[in-house]
Amino acid sequence: MPGLIPERFIDELLARVDIVDVVQRHVPLKRAGREWTARCPFHDERSPSFYVSPAKQFFHCFGCGAHGSAIKFLMDYERLEFPDAVEELAQSVGLKVPREGGDERPREDKTDLYALLDSAARFYQDELTASETARAYCEQRGLDAAACRHFRIGWAPAGWDGLKRALGTNDVRLKLLEQAGMLSTGERGNKYDRFRERLMFPIMDRRGRVIAFGGRVLESKPSAHPARESQKAGVPAGTSQHSPKYLNSPETPLFHKGRELFAFWQVRQANTRLERLLVVEGYMDAIALHQAGITQAVATLGTATTHEHAELLFRAAPDVVFCFDGDRAGRSAAWRALESVLPRMRDGRQAFFLFLPEGEDPDSLVRAEGRAGFEARIAQALPLSEYFYSELSRDVNVATLDGRARLAEHAKPLLLKLPDGAFRDLMYAELEKRTGLNSGTTAPAPLRAPTRHAAAANATPHRTLVRSAIAMLLAEPSLADDAESPCAFAALDKPGVPLLIELLDVARARPGINTAALLENFSQRPESSALQKLAMIEFPGDADALRAEFADALRKLVAQTAQQRLDALVRKQSEGTLDDEEKNELRGLLARKGQAGSIAGT
Ligand code: UTP
Ligand code: MN
Repeated sequence: MPGLIPERFIDELLARVDIVDVVQRHVPLKRAGREWTARCPFHDERSPSFYVSPAKQFFHCFGCGAHGSAIKFLMDYERLEFPDAVEELAQSVGLKVPREGGDERPREDKTDLYALLDSAARFYQDELTASETARAYCEQRGLDAAACRHFRIGWAPAGWDGLKRALGTNDVRLKLLEQAGMLSTGERGNKYDRFRERLMFPIMDRRGRVIAFGGRVLESKPSAHPARESQKAGVPAGTSQHSPKYLNSPETPLFHKGRELFAFWQVRQANTRLERLLVVEGYMDAIALHQAGITQAVATLGTATTHEHAELLFRAAPDVVFCFDGDRAGRSAAWRALESVLPRMRDGRQAFFLFLPEGEDPDSLVRAEGRAGFEARIAQALPLSEYFYSELSRDVNVATLDGRARLAEHAKPLLLKLPDGAFRDLMYAELEKRTGLNSGTTAPAPLRAPTRHAAAANATPHRTLVRSAIAMLLAEPSLADDAESPCAFAALDKPGVPLLIELLDVARARPGINTAALLENFSQRPESSALQKLAMIEFPGDADALRAEFADALRKLVAQTAQQRLDALVRKQSEGTLDDEEKNELRGLLARKGQAGSIAGT
């Protein structure tokens, strides 16, 4: 177990980095008064509603609600896990991440796995240089030296233990090789190379690190006809039962195939701004497209497109073109892709479906027709709405009322998956147009894109005293220094009071903490998003005015606490259940109140 990252370090880190720099590295920002703004990288939009606040050190999008600290930004933008985002940020400002408990040398495991897989890729690359057969195959498939280098294509040699002997030089490394999915286990428990006599395609993560491999046998001839149908029956086409055409790494701590896309790293390297992504099915397809200059192609890894893929794709580009073979297997894969993108179809995002002639795949087509030919096909791709309705209308006769009712019936549950927005309205309108029916099929009232002020107002349904105090404290955590401890309003029975006290405690215990760091402390809590919203509130006036307002709010909370107690004691008194101590307390409270009253009266 790697040790925990101490919270103090997170504070320090968030105090050290400037979120404006961090965001700026990925998204061009424009100055807007005290803040910076851009078109939101997390949803597509025409006008900017993404704000970065240098004072509070957080970002917020009024369009899609994305928000958080510099750490959160990296997590969302680069799809990193929390510790990885922290590592990356720390590196950028020359800090070393300390660890509490756990191992002395933290996260060594994963670091070692990455290093090992990198060595494996290099081993296979060297083997490719050495193997004439493999090089001849590459040549025959049109993989030139530049493409081989760019995609780090390699060759897993024949024999049972080439890789094992080269890298598994001690027990620790053997164990890592196994963890990385590079070894198979024989019937007698013996370990041997998982990949043998295969052309190797390293799969890289979003930071260009090798996390897995796909390996292709040489003997089966290139097929534009995927093996899917026969794969389902358990027998890959053109290969013996035990040797599928492509073999992929198993799921490992680093590799979850439903979350990764082949060539995504190369896409990111080749494009600073992505308007469009092309999703194909095969390694060779993606590579051939890149070679032809279509550098926005990624491939799924022998799986259907998942929701995670869909989100990842749309975060990278507003338009996504899914490319499938025209055969039945291709059609069914396309429909699954459509289902996985429906819930992600926020406004501004567009999905297209491109069906290729039977017997062809992107690899064969782009090599035959060139870049221009393939681009022309992309331009002809079906928009989601067209594909959706033509597919649903396939088996129904829309000339009949009955058929149209059936169409509506099939469409409705799918349309329900669409997020709010203009696109959903259009899809419903299209259904109405096609069926002439609107009973129950009309979209629920459209939500207008919130303006900045509407969103802010909406974020704070009622500004209670406690909420205001929390908002002020979030705006300026150093206010906590003025508050007395323990809190005189701790007993106040109102929603949010324990949270306010907790915030005060954290802010007091960690002098200098900024808004983002304070929020980060609560990021795993159910209250997190409420806190984020409160942190959006701007307070007019200077620091002194805020300080005075905060002190006033706390004073009122103390007064409310006394009043609440007084009410309770008076109730008890009327019930005749006061004990002596409570009687004393009641007298005290009444006296103080009378005093306050008389002061107020003078
Ligand atoms: P294809 O059979 O269409 O292969 O499988 P391809 O990409 O056109 O490859 P070539 O042109 O014959 O060399 C498409 C994808 O499906 C997965 C792989 O990810 C492959 O790239 N697949 C295919 C497997 O995982 N296992 C298999 O046995 C076959
Ligand atoms: Mn192919």
